[in-house]
Amino acid sequence: MKKLIVLAIALMFILSLAYAGDYTYVGLKRCKGCHKGERKGNVYETWLSKKHSKAFEGIKAKGEEKNPECLGCHTTAFNKGGYKIDDPNAANFEGVQCESCHGPGSVYKKISYMKKRELALQNGLIDIKEETCTGCHDGSEHAGKFNYQEALKQIDHTYRKK
Ligand code: HEC
Ligand code: HEC
Ligand code: HEC
Ligand code: HEC
Repeated sequence: MKKLIVLAIALMFILSLAYAGDYTYVGLKRCKGCHKGERKGNVYETWLSKKHSKAFEGIKAKGEEKNPECLGCHTTAFNKGGYKIDDPNAANFEGVQCESCHGPGSVYKKISYMKKRELALQNGLIDIKEETCTGCHDGSEHAGKFNYQEALKQIDHTYRKK
């Protein structure tokens, strides 16, 4: 009996560790709440003014919004916990949203994590590198040429003084 209890506790511990690594996608609205407006650096507004925010509209205009071959690059986390065809929650993941680059935010979106980059990085926030982009900007004829440094300038929404 004792052995069983020890085993059960060990199992629960292992499961809880596995769960801790399981970050999920929360969708744009959750990020927007804290990253919108002049006082917050207009991060949301800047994103909205760029084409990433329109990526779903683009495939819709072509009648391809149910084509899995398009959704991977024109939505957020397609079939990876974000966009899913015919899912009631799908509209929350249209376009190339914050979490496409910054990673699934279920844990790091908490203010106590957000204010400490190191802590956020340990909890789902991605340290953005060229590879963060090249899954979609893959150099194919359709995706076009990609120059990381130039592209970074084009999507820039930083506001904090370095
Ligand atoms: C409860 C409010 C809140 C929510 C929700 C929130 N953030 Fe933040 N975030 C902050 C604050 C505050 C900072 C620190 C800003 C500063 O120092 O000027 C921050 C910082 C960041 C940073 C910079 C981290 C660094 O130090 O390099 C990124 C990237 C970020 N947030 C992305 C997101 C994304 C993506 C989401 C949605 C998944 C999100 N945030 C949701 C409040 C929030
Ligand atoms: C999930 C796929 C995906 C990821 C990840 C992604 N992009 Fe994009 N990007 C797109 C798509 C799709 C478009 C075109 C949207 C349209 O025109 O409808 C685009 C457009 C752009 C544009 C043109 C923007 C404009 O407003 O003219 C730039 C620049 C760009 N991406 C840079 C980046 C950089 C830099 C990264 C990484 C930090 C990145 N992208 C990550 C899919 C992605
Ligand atoms: C490997 C990622 C990827 C896939 C898959 C993908 N796209 Fe794109 N798409 C991009 C990127 C990146 C851009 C931005 C190109 C640029 O601005 O240089 C883009 C741009 C676009 C645009 C806006 C520019 C234009 O050409 O009018 C439309 C519309 C579009 N894609 C439709 C589609 C459709 C429809 C499919 C599926 C048949 C598809 N895409 C599949 C990455 C992808
Ligand atoms: C195409 C990729 C991409 C998308 C989409 C994107 N970001 Fe970023 N974000 C970056 C990059 C690159 C940086 C600058 C380098 C870094 O912080 O890693 C950045 C920086 C930030 C910062 C720090 C700003 C500063 O001054 O230090 C915040 C906050 C942020 N992003 C929030 C968001 C939010 C909120 C969204 C959605 C509305 C979003 N990002 C969408 C790539 C992206």
